[in-house]
Amino acid sequence: EYKITCIQGKHMEDIYISGTGVWTPPHKISNDELVESYNQYVDLFNAENADQINTGVIDALEHSSSEFIVKASGIKSRYVIEKDSLLDPMRMKPLIKARADDELSFSAEVSVKAAKQALENADLKPTDIDCVIVSAANLQRAYPAIAIEVQNELGIEGYAYDMMVGCSASTFGINNAFADIRAGKSSKILVISPEITSGHNNFKNRDGHFIFGDVCTAVVIEKASKAKNKFKIIDTKLKTTFSNNIRNNFGYMNTIEDKEYSESEQLFVQNGRRVFKEVMPFVSSLILDQLNEHDLSPEDIERYWLHQANINMNAYVIKKLLGDDFSSDRAPIVLDEYANTSSAGSIIAFHKYNQLDDGQKGIICSFGAGYSICSILLEKA
Ligand code: COA
Repeated sequence: EYKITCIQGKHMEDIYISGTGVWTPPHKISNDELVESYNQYVDLFNAENADQINTGVIDALEHSSSEFIVKASGIKSRYVIEKDSLLDPMRMKPLIKARADDELSFSAEVSVKAAKQALENADLKPTDIDCVIVSAANLQRAYPAIAIEVQNELGIEGYAYDMMVGCSASTFGINNAFADIRAGKSSKILVISPEITSGHNNFKNRDGHFIFGDVCTAVVIEKASKAKNKFKIIDTKLKTTFSNNIRNNFGYMNTIEDKEYSESEQLFVQNGRRVFKEVMPFVSSLILDQLNEHDLSPEDIERYWLHQANINMNAYVIKKLLGDDFSSDRAPIVLDEYANTSSAGSIIAFHKYNQLDDGQKGIICSFGAGYSICSILLEKA
């Protein structure tokens, strides 16, 4: 009986999100710039393949348009790690210098930048941290873990590991951090999401060339926080259900399969319409179930920091929760500026728009590949 009381005592300790950081790449691309280079690529492709197009062997490619992009997605610009090569119609993807094994990797470098900002906001030093989780939709390599490289660079004792959960990687990472602190394994954790989406996006694909942007976010989760601006984690709710509608076939078994992969087959593909239709009902019902379990109504939630993939998706979710009449600052949008930054999107929204009064509640909710959904219920402390 004594033991149970002790464990329960530990379980009751409050755990907070106490600081966030966002590393934004230095290069911004507007829709017009992106479309201009895409259309140049299309013209080159069609001229080069005129014979096959004229004889009906292949279809001519069609131009993209900024009007379509804004209407279909709400995206107006994106940040990328390198711009000139991405906009070169002969290349259509960024170009970065390969680094030697003894140099800090690109992902670790941007992770450290975002982490330092999050630590400053949490009023902590790197050495206060005892666990690093790097959680993203894609990781630069299989091992050694980027998280352990970041741990080493920041001089952190303890343990670190990488994880991948598509667009819900950051929130599932926060859930792991919450669980590890509750279990007494650590007390202050960094969850970092280097979403260098340019590495998986197909900039030659008209349906999706505009979708993604690059970024890195970092979140500090801790008990006994001294931070001024902090949010108590009340609950995390997770749901996954298998779908092929968002897929990336790149992987280490490609080299031993009895097939040659083209570059486009190793990049992101999706059936955007199906994703929209199928994911939306999951999201609103998961949030409503969570609220119900805590005797709360959607109105009790001051702010919804939703996944940032498509403005029409966010409008759909928020309408289901709050009806037609709500102020737009209840569900802030960053995808117009950042585009879809995979699992980092809801964290950027949280980072930029987290000014709540003590006791007010908010929800961070991600949704995407897997499908995977995670809703984190917070209270301003
Ligand atoms: N420029 C101009 N027209 C385009 C275009 C482009 N770049 N891309 C597609 N179109 C056209 C299509 O040819 C099609 O024309 P048609 O109706 O004459 O056949 C029309 O626009 C609609 O295409 P569709 O692909 O069905 O667009 P959509 O309205 O579904 O929007 C997405 C596409 C991807 C923006 C949208 O489906 C989406 O965001 N879905 C959710 C995806 C998501 O969040 N995924 C998570 C990823 S992590």
